[in-house]
Amino acid sequence: MGLAAVILAAGQGTRMKSRYSKVLHAVAGRAMLRYVLQAAVGAGAERVVVVAGYEAPAVAESVAGEAEVVIQKEQLGTAHALLQTENVLKSFGGDIMVLPGDTPLLCSGTLRDFYSAHVKEGAAATVLTACFSEPAGYGRVIRDAGGKVERIVEHRDATKEELLVHEVNTGVYCFRPGIFDILRKISPDNVQREYYLPDAVRLLREEGSPVAAWEAADPEEFFGINDRRQLAVAERIIRQRVVDALMDAGVTVVDPAVTYVDPGVTVGADTVIYPFTFLEGNTVIGSDARIGPWARIIDSRLGDYVVVQSAVVIGSAVADRAVLGPYTYIRPGTDVGPGAKVGGFVEVKKSVIGEGSKVPHLSYIGDTEIGSNVNVGAGTITCNYDGLQKWLTVIEDDAFIGSNTNLVAPVKIGKGAYIGAGSTITKDVPPYSLGIARGRQTNIPEWAKKKPESEGKE
Ligand code: UD1
Ligand code: CA
Repeated sequence: MGLAAVILAAGQGTRMKSRYSKVLHAVAGRAMLRYVLQAAVGAGAERVVVVAGYEAPAVAESVAGEAEVVIQKEQLGTAHALLQTENVLKSFGGDIMVLPGDTPLLCSGTLRDFYSAHVKEGAAATVLTACFSEPAGYGRVIRDAGGKVERIVEHRDATKEELLVHEVNTGVYCFRPGIFDILRKISPDNVQREYYLPDAVRLLREEGSPVAAWEAADPEEFFGINDRRQLAVAERIIRQRVVDALMDAGVTVVDPAVTYVDPGVTVGADTVIYPFTFLEGNTVIGSDARIGPWARIIDSRLGDYVVVQSAVVIGSAVADRAVLGPYTYIRPGTDVGPGAKVGGFVEVKKSVIGEGSKVPHLSYIGDTEIGSNVNVGAGTITCNYDGLQKWLTVIEDDAFIGSNTNLVAPVKIGKGAYIGAGSTITKDVPPYSLGIARGRQTNIPEWAKKKPESEGKE
């Protein structure tokens, strides 16, 4: 036995006015189809089949390795879409749960309860319903005098009376094995000339098979995304859920309305997130950190007690007690050590900043290994690129780089060495030496008095 999930994702989603498949539009940083996939797996589906059609290669790519994909060449309706899975599922002996690909707010716990109810009831089909205060656009659930589900009527095909029904079809169903024969009996005699999956409910009932409806407690989970306004509503709901979970785990979020955290990001307790902060992708933040205002952290790992203000951090690691910002750009492959400081208008790329080292002002540090307790003076630039390739700069422990230095790579500054301010360093500097490379200063006495422009000024 067991359960297979079929996710219907072949439609274009014309109301999105997009050249991309609707189900690939992102909600809180990931394609809406991925939320449905995760909910299906979380509900206990041992196989997941995605029906793709419009932009099928991109849809298949987004679920590669996690779901089987079947193609619906022409999108003739949701019943026709499900029928395309017959070949891959006809030998599968278990139940089939059908899910729309455009409902990213689904929760796996609800789907699990729904499936249990379906199994307990022993129905040929169970439709998951919800009562919406604004049911416009959804199929309405029509029940008979005894309260049993009779059929589902699409909004466009409904009579005035039927439109008054608030109980809607969520687009989630469970079918017992052998559903495919009934799908073949569905005809497209409706306003849209489509093969409607909800018609399976009516047909099963007509042939005397038991059909059930299970009403979900929280209608919000079944909000379907058909246009960009609804996409924005879903985005807000998911972000609120994520931020609520962080707060429940002991994170202070000063203003949830302007805090953007992707699902999957983890943040330690007692960290404070200030407004206009974006935590994206596979980001992990330690505890007791201060993040923002204005921080964008993507695919990065930050330690405990880290302080970040007005910074962009991508694909990097920042150790405990390090301080970034304001106005700092940390590019991929950077490793900021414990207690290190990277300050204002500093860009760092693919570099190591060792423990306790400081790059406080106006620098570019690229392809560089900085040891511990190094001080890099204001305006220091590593010249890592010669027009053909990138070269490494090494600055060993305890070195002191004077302000406005150019370090022309490949170059190595030894342990404890000093560089005079304003130097352009092209050769290695041995440990504990002073490297200085600039024109010597000449003072010309009385020069100002003698120069022509100042004649007659006295
Ligand atoms: C559908 C239901 C409606 C329900 C609503 C819930 C039908 C006829 N109507 O309406 O009763 O209230 O969902 O959200 O099923 N798809 C395909 N192939 C197709 C057509 C659609 O794979 O040929 C996919 C779409 O990509 C989408 C899903 O099925 O992910 C639902 O299709 P959509 O057109 O959004 O249906 P609704 O009009 O919302
Ligand atoms: Ca829909």
